[in-house]
Amino acid sequence: MSRKELLDAVASEVVVCRKCELWKTRKNAVPGEGNPDSQIMFIGEAPGYWEGIKGKPFVGAAGNFLDTLLSIADLSRENVFIGNILKCRPPKNREPLLDEIETCTPYLDSQIQVLKPKIIVTLGNHSTSYIFSKVAIPFNGITQTHGEFFEASILSMQVTIFPTFHPAAALYSGKYKELLQRDFQLLKHRFTNQRSSV
Ligand code: URA
Ligand code: SF4
Repeated sequence: MSRKELLDAVASEVVVCRKCELWKTRKNAVPGEGNPDSQIMFIGEAPGYWEGIKGKPFVGAAGNFLDTLLSIADLSRENVFIGNILKCRPPKNREPLLDEIETCTPYLDSQIQVLKPKIIVTLGNHSTSYIFSKVAIPFNGITQTHGEFFEASILSMQVTIFPTFHPAAALYSGKYKELLQRDFQLLKHRFTNQRSSV
């Protein structure tokens, strides 16, 4: 099977999943989407209101800003893959619960396994904390960690992990907006170098 077929297979499981309570309140599950041959994967937290309506990741206000950030890194939706830790929206956008994360992340792990990304960009605390826990890197919060490249082995694959803030943080604070823009500039340079070496 091609990567696209494998990702579609994960997505078709996700849209009918009832493994945690969140299926009861979701409008649509949001499996994630993007280029199946992408070398770069972005991982957010969980769908918000508009994502649940449309069944697509990052289509609300935070998503608009993510598009701006992607363009800073010379990237676009067409050449990346975007997924989330949770595939269904928590009611009132509350924080993901630990047992929801445990129950849902096998889907994310499958997506990582299929994509085999060279770079994983984690957006915000939950995403970074989850990915760091898989590679046994201690996580001291996104403020301490963002903007650095971490080499690690995840699911038996060598990857570079790049944590940054969640794009929604930029919507209420100019400081985070600037830090995110700076991080995506770092990403651009790193990815340009990496692209030319593969
Ligand atoms: N925030 C997220 O973390 N993911 C989305 O898909 C949308 C908003
Ligand atoms: Fe299934 Fe994940 Fe949705 Fe829970 S959040 S119902 S585990 S897809």
